Amino acid sequence: MGKISLTGIKPTGMLHIGNYFGAIKPALELAALYDARYFIADYHALNQVKDAAELRNAIRHIAAGWLASGLDPQKVIFYRQSLVPETFELSTMLMAFTSKGLMNRAHAYKAAVSANTARGEDADAGINMGLFTYPVLMAADILLFDADFVPVGRDQTQHVEMARDIAETLNHNYHETLLVPPQAFVQENAAIVPGIDGRKMSKSYGNVIPLFSTEKELRKLIMRIVTNSQGVDEPKDPDSSQIFLIYRYFAAPDEVKTFEGRYRAGGMGWGDAKEELFRVVNRELSPIRARYEALMAEPAQIDRILAEGSEKARFIAARTIRRLRKAAGMS
Ligand code: TRP
Repeated sequence: MGKISLTGIKPTGMLHIGNYFGAIKPALELAALYDARYFIADYHALNQVKDAAELRNAIRHIAAGWLASGLDPQKVIFYRQSLVPETFELSTMLMAFTSKGLMNRAHAYKAAVSANTARGEDADAGINMGLFTYPVLMAADILLFDADFVPVGRDQTQHVEMARDIAETLNHNYHETLLVPPQAFVQENAAIVPGIDGRKMSKSYGNVIPLFSTEKELRKLIMRIVTNSQGVDEPKDPDSSQIFLIYRYFAAPDEVKTFEGRYRAGGMGWGDAKEELFRVVNRELSPIRARYEALMAEPAQIDRILAEGSEKARFIAARTIRRLRKAAGMS
């Protein structure tokens, strides 16, 4: 059997082109090389999203976004965490092998505590147990499926290391490799797409270009990209221009070269540069947008794809749970 690549996608917020180049595309490339198991981490989202309509929408939006971007549910097991209840059984079992001190050291929890302390509030204000035990649930997601590689952003590597720790503690206790210790797979050259204000594109900065906006909205956003005050005739430095930095992700190498030449030669105004950026962005996103809209028009189809994937996932999950119950003396 080939190596297994697994990742979870938290359904919060709207997909943007930073997610597309930084997470979706690299994960789909990995899916061509490994047995891929990708899922919607809706129980992880529940810690933040407490509105039912918002969560339901976010789940469909993320699922449709990945499918429209090229995820093939015949090749990738694509499922929803909440439809695989074995996750929660494993999570409870892992609790017994996870020291509280390990959770105290988790970056996300520590950041929440220091934000509270800085504001002069109680250290645990607004922190629920879902946030505190987040790494255990994530370990269950990973360990349930014997994942070798977990493609994640740098901010999630600590969680994968914790999953590894927990797996090793359990294996050590039963003198048997019951759980596969996973490895984070961080692409060193992972795309860091700049936002329209020049900082890293991130929904927390409000500087994103959504993956699925109408053509009109897309043009409007591109026209809002921050530039300097150089005039049309002046030669311009491509590498310090957000327009150019975003362009590189969407254009073919010869187009990038030509565009770079136009920057350096002078005679190209920022308005022209933005039109050229719009052209290539829209060229790439149009077919994805069309597939996305077709899926969103039939949410029952999205739900069915996730339900079918979840059936396949449960088959694997049940095997892991049987193995563990036996080892633990529960059957
Ligand atoms: N915590 C991840 C994030 O916020 C999402 C996630 C949940 C995940 N379970 C996972 C990622 C398992 C990889 C493996 O992005």
